[in-house]
Amino acid sequence: MFLTEQQISENNLEKFQNIFSDSEPEKGKEKHTVLIVDDEVNNLQLLKRTLRRKFNILVATDGKEALEIIDKEGHNISLIISDQRMPKMTGTEFLSRVAEKHPYIIKMLLTGYSDIEAMIDGVNKCQLFQYITKPYEPDEIEMIIDHGIEAYELTLSKNTLLQDLKELFFTTVKSISSALDAKDAYTHGHSHRVTLFSLILAKELNLEESFIEEIETTGLLHDIGKIGVPEAILCKAGKLTDEEYKEIQQHAPKAKKILSNIPGLTNVALWASCHHERWDGRGYPNGLSSKDIPLPSRILAIADTYDAMTSNRSYRKGLPHDVAVEEIKNCADSQFDPEVTEAFLRVEKLFREAAVNPNAYYNEYSVLNKKYKETA
Ligand SMILES: [Fe+2]
Repeated sequence: MFLTEQQISENNLEKFQNIFSDSEPEKGKEKHTVLIVDDEVNNLQLLKRTLRRKFNILVATDGKEALEIIDKEGHNISLIISDQRMPKMTGTEFLSRVAEKHPYIIKMLLTGYSDIEAMIDGVNKCQLFQYITKPYEPDEIEMIIDHGIEAYELTLSKNTLLQDLKELFFTTVKSISSALDAKDAYTHGHSHRVTLFSLILAKELNLEESFIEEIETTGLLHDIGKIGVPEAILCKAGKLTDEEYKEIQQHAPKAKKILSNIPGLTNVALWASCHHERWDGRGYPNGLSSKDIPLPSRILAIADTYDAMTSNRSYRKGLPHDVAVEEIKNCADSQFDPEVTEAFLRVEKLFREAAVNPNAYYNEYSVLNKKYKETA
């Protein structure tokens, strides 16, 4: 039996409520929050009273009021049922605005008549889960809402799983990076600082956050190829022979070999393998020059060189900051990209401060730390 809007009135409330009260939420399971938006107060109250046993209910009588509620409570709302015909803004206008900020909230549109335009808008702009025409049967709407909540829970668990995987991946990257830094007492903390300096430069160059995130991963893994270099050569106190130097140079192509097999790290593999290329083409492993060298590798080159110059090594003491800055400045156009060098000269004081307390600065600049849980 179908109920008209008029029939779904206070007179039918009892019957309507009974249908919903059959299905109590599972014990210990938190109630989902449902927002109902309708300018017809009777309809709104009826839905509210019938659904409140099963869900936390929020109500609004127009789109503007509903948007205010979503601004405050959006992260708690699982599902929205909105009427189409309302003053101030239509249901599809309202839901399309919600879709921009809250794609995961399940959205349903109620309308008293078959409105093809609203239906098309709903599909194209609102990521509509369901279009419901009035009159509707109470048990039909309950089933629809349950399906919506199921879809919401599924998306939520999928996202949680994805987030857990990314977190796990990030922890692994950091652990590998720390293990690398620990391989040689004299380069202790090198990858960590190089990553931090690269982040400072990337931010100064106004790069996009997703790009900076990949640069951060590259910084942490840029020397991963050193895993394949014998420690006797890596930690040698004296001067390296030509053979030994060639062996060390192999860490760049080895990084590509190690990383390119990992899904999602194609860019990182390439960028890490190019961090010893030079602007004038005299670097290794491929002698790439100018903009043939990926920008992240040109950034890493300055970050890596600054850290190598200013930190102590087994065979020499680190250079003072000002000397390192002068050296990098002099190598713009030969070793380094002149634009990245300019960016470096604008933030060189920050490099000096960050080198003193890299952990504090890392938390400020890291994209990965902010995005995933702090695992450092
Ligand atoms: Fe290197």
